[in-house]
Formats: sequence, structure tokens, C-alpha cells
Amino acid sequence: MAKPRASRQPCPESCNVLLVGGGGREHALAWKLSQSPRLGTLWLTHPENAGLHSYGQPCPVAMDVKDAFRMQRWCDSNDIHLVVVGPELPLAKGIVDALQTDTRRVFGPNKEAARLEADKAFAKQIMRQVAIPTAEARVFTEVESARHYINAREGGCVVKASGLAAGKGAIVCDNQAEALDAIERMFVHDEFGEAGRKVLIEEKLTGQEVSVLALVDGRTITMLDPCQDHKQVGEGDTGPNTGGMGAYCPTPVIDDATMAVVEREVMVPTVDALRREGIEYRGVLYAGIMLTPGGPKVLEFNCRFGDPECQPLMARLKGDLIEILWATSTGRLGDVDVEFDDRVACCVVMCSEGYPGPYEKGRVITGIENAEALSSAAGEVKVFHAGTRKEKDGIVTAGGRVLGVTALAADLTAARDLANRACEKIHFQGAFYRRDIGDRVLSTSAAVGR
Ligand code: AMP
Ligand code: GLY
Repeated sequence: MAKPRASRQPCPESCNVLLVGGGGREHALAWKLSQSPRLGTLWLTHPENAGLHSYGQPCPVAMDVKDAFRMQRWCDSNDIHLVVVGPELPLAKGIVDALQTDTRRVFGPNKEAARLEADKAFAKQIMRQVAIPTAEARVFTEVESARHYINAREGGCVVKASGLAAGKGAIVCDNQAEALDAIERMFVHDEFGEAGRKVLIEEKLTGQEVSVLALVDGRTITMLDPCQDHKQVGEGDTGPNTGGMGAYCPTPVIDDATMAVVEREVMVPTVDALRREGIEYRGVLYAGIMLTPGGPKVLEFNCRFGDPECQPLMARLKGDLIEILWATSTGRLGDVDVEFDDRVACCVVMCSEGYPGPYEKGRVITGIENAEALSSAAGEVKVFHAGTRKEKDGIVTAGGRVLGVTALAADLTAARDLANRACEKIHFQGAFYRRDIGDRVLSTSAAVGR
């Protein structure tokens, strides 16, 4: 008799899960996975994160695709049913291709599909093929022609490394001089290494940015509620870009009709275009969208949950995350309900002094329990750990982004205020955070009288 197709495998009653990644996004995933009655053993690649620590067992083998045989052997001998991959790098390196079997599912796109994030020139080519609204761009592989192009055009532009650059590969330029400098940094000073050998010079768009994430099982697309994050380090959206200083979900900046446009004009044609290239997309498809006066346009695709967008998403997600991720990775997304709490979640990121520049680690953190103790009927608080480590003195800082203080409350104002009050309870030397997360829409709503 023929073997049942992998896609027909039901979700195991007791599902052993390996979670790959060690930041705030993964703490939020672990928290939600641990609420599933289907969870068997949870294994962690980054148990040193003091928040993740208590949810599972340390995985003793490095999940390095270069040693695929060792990873596979470890997963086989520990009966891993589901691998959940948080960050883009292992996806871009092919962890899905290395670990997926008929009985073991890996949540995330395979190496080819992950190029949508890992190779921006490829993503542009796909978008062009099916006329997805996005910024006009030209691709360059050497400095002279890039300089020539910049000198021949007027005004601002965005210079982007085509490869993965940990969120730092896009340089928004107001004029020719800045663009020429960005080109030097990529091609001459090699600041972005391999990622900057291919460079996009893009039309500069204006408008509000929104993170639109969807689950995709190869064909079916389930849109998640829209989020917004704040990338710049300073209040009022000032200063250099970071990995994300805070995020909220849902955001009122995009209405249902515009979400439907993004689904119809961006998500569906992207998944279809990939399929025509022989690439099946499974996992999270995250479109960074700019709401321009001419309609929504794609700034970038990511092949994973956003960080910190994942924290408010998980705070609001109802239902069983294991079932949802399993259904996504087995092509049965249509069989599960993906629903959200009606309340609004807001995550405020507490950072180390100096971030996104150099910072010290090892500062003792206190007050996390006091922050979570603010939970009441009016709202809930959950502190997700991004860069922390457990030491004998207690929990200490171990990264630039340290904690994602997340609150769930009736509306954005209440959620943001509760998250800010929770941050006030937490102390470590040099801690800072933005108190204005959500202001962009709170002031807009005020302006339109909502
Ligand atoms: P990316 O890595 O492509 O998401 O870019 C990082 C950030 O740069 C985005 O979140 C935007 O704020 C900005 N950005 C990227 N592309 C553009 C563009 N074409 N026009 C204006 N801003 C952009
Ligand atoms: N918050 C932006 C990202 O995850 O890429």
C-alpha cells in the first residue's frame, strides 16, 4: 500500500517540538506553544534566554545546516514531530529542507521560498512578473554603474543590500550625496559583506508602514490581523533604525477594505508566482507595506514572524498554536480557525543603554514579577525576554533589546499605558524604552475624529 502523503499526517496528540531561535519572538512562541494540550516535550536551541529557559529542555546539538546529518539524527532519536523556526537565517540556509521528513514537519518556508526575504533582487523580480505594487528599483552588482545611476537621477532614494543584513541593510537617502555614500559603504567598504555585493536602488516612498502577516500552506492564505512596529530608536520616530522598539496589533491604520487589497494584489499573486516557479511557500509570509497616496505598496517581504510583531500577535491569538502551525506546514490551513482576542496588544521594548550602537551586557534586571502583577480585569501584562540570561545573581541583560513588555487591554491607549506602567516597574542600569509606541495612529485617529 502506498505510504500516506506527508500532507495528510494528522497533528500528533502528543507533539514533541523543537523551537529554533532565542529572542523575544521565540519567547512569545514558546509561551503560546506551552498552552497547547498537544505539547509533549519542548526542546530549545537557546535555553540561555532566561524567559525561554523554563519552558523546555536544552537541545544539545547546534542547529547548523552545515551539519545536517547530526541535526537529523538528533531529531530522529528524540522523536521530534514539529520544528518551529523563528529567525530568517536558518530558513535562508535551508533548515526546512534539511529536517523535514514524511513524519516530521518544519514550520517555515524552504530555502528556495525563503529567498523572498534573503534575496531582495529575487523578490523584486517575482513582484515585477505579476505587477505587484512596489517601489521601482534597479539592481546593481558593481560600484561604477550604481554611481552613474545615482548621479543621473534627482532627489532621494533607498539603497538596499540585497542579502540578509539583520534589518540594517536599507539606507534611506534624502539626496545624491547620501546615496553615493551608501553605495560606497556597500561596494567599497564592504560593510554588509556578501549581503551588499548586490544592491538595489529604490524609489523612496512615503506613508505609514504596516506589517501584514499571513499564514500560507502552499495554497491557502490566512491573513493575520495587521500590526505596526516602530523601527527608530527615539521617541517621535527619530534616530537610527533598530530591530524594532515596539509593536501593536491590530492597527487601525489599515481598514478591512485595504487589507483585502493587500491580500488580493500582494499575497495571492506572490504565492501563485512562486508556485509557477516550482516553489511552494509554507509558513509566515510577512509583507512590509507602505500605505502611499497611490495605495499600498510592498517595501519588503520577510519569511517569518516579525520581532516584535510576534509578541502582540501571540498575546491575542486564540486557539492551539501547535495545531495551527501543523496545519500550515501540512497544507491543511483550511481545517483550522485562526482567531484573535478582540482586545488590543501593545509591546514596548526595553533596551540596553547605547543600543542600537555598542552596549554593555550583564546588568541585573529586577521587577519583572511586579510588572506582570499589574495584570487585572482591566488588562493583562506579559513580559517576553529578548536579550536576557540567567545567572546566579538572577536575570541579567544579554542583548540590545532586552525585554518586550506586552499588555493586552480594551484599546490601544489602554494597552500602551499599561505596558508603559509595567516598564516603570522593571529596572536595570541604563534601561530605556519609547513611551510613545502607537502615537502615530493615536494622533492620526484624533485628527480624523475617531
Ligand atoms: P526593509 O529592510 O526593506 O524593510 O527597509 C527597512 C526600512 O527602511 C523600512 O521599514 C522603511 O522604513 C524603510 N524603507 C525601505 N524601503 C523604502 C522605500 N522604498 N521608501 C521609503 N522607505 C523605505
Ligand atoms: N519588526 C520588523 C521585523 O521583524 O523585520
